[in-house]
Amino acid sequence: MSLFRRREAPKVDMSRLPRHVAIIMDGNGRWAKGRGLPRRAGHAAGAETFRTIATFVKELGLEYLTVYAFSTENWKRPADEVAAIMKLLEKYLHEAIETMARDKVKMAFFGDLSPLAPHLQQLCRQTQEISKGYDGCQVNICLNYGGRDELVRAAKAFALDCVEGRADPGHLTQEAFGGYLYSAGVPDPDLIIRPSGEVRVSNFLLWQCAYAEFYFTDVLWPDFSKEELLRALAAYQGRSRRYGGV
Ligand code: FPP
Repeated sequence: MSLFRRREAPKVDMSRLPRHVAIIMDGNGRWAKGRGLPRRAGHAAGAETFRTIATFVKELGLEYLTVYAFSTENWKRPADEVAAIMKLLEKYLHEAIETMARDKVKMAFFGDLSPLAPHLQQLCRQTQEISKGYDGCQVNICLNYGGRDELVRAAKAFALDCVEGRADPGHLTQEAFGGYLYSAGVPDPDLIIRPSGEVRVSNFLLWQCAYAEFYFTDVLWPDFSKEELLRALAAYQGRSRRYGGV
């Protein structure tokens, strides 16, 4: 018998999986720093983890995966770091175009894509267009996304519909307002995972997180493994979701 006690394998009931898991992919910079590497190496490792987890999510049969890839505030980072993240996204989207027909993965983007380089915008449109009829797992990539920005845009779009006679403020419902968000038609996340030891929301899915269960772990995103995801799912299954009831 080993002298070291292994951490117990998480027990997950495959018949009670959440429909929608969202992840704040945090800790890439610290992962790189800890190894004496440039921050871009942390993002490259983070992109690999994203591939592993997205594939696993699909294998588990979850319906939706939403990841925070680039926030409206991330433009404040050094230009070479921003360029490195954009390059990783570009590489991933090229790969996705190659494999999405086989995997039936549907891709969508939450965020204002207009400040992105034209070729990256085109790639996003292309992946979205190719995959729109697929019925497999839907992967939503939050790109130049901010929760407050999303809400202000939705409010403006709704106000315009009112001014132009297509909507009536007196009849606005939560469901109808949800239709103005990037996430229109996507169920709210059941589980939001934030690795790296930070315990905050950071402007992520502010409207949609209303009844989400949160799971925080100290593991840095590049080290986040399939087992970590199973651990998060097991923790989720141990929660009692009451939606404000008893
Ligand atoms: C946060 O970690 C991470 C980001 C801002 C970028 C996330 C991007 C990727 C994982 C790569 C591209 C994505 C895809 C979908 C292919 P941080 O840099 O803030 O880490 P720190 O808090 O340790 O500094």
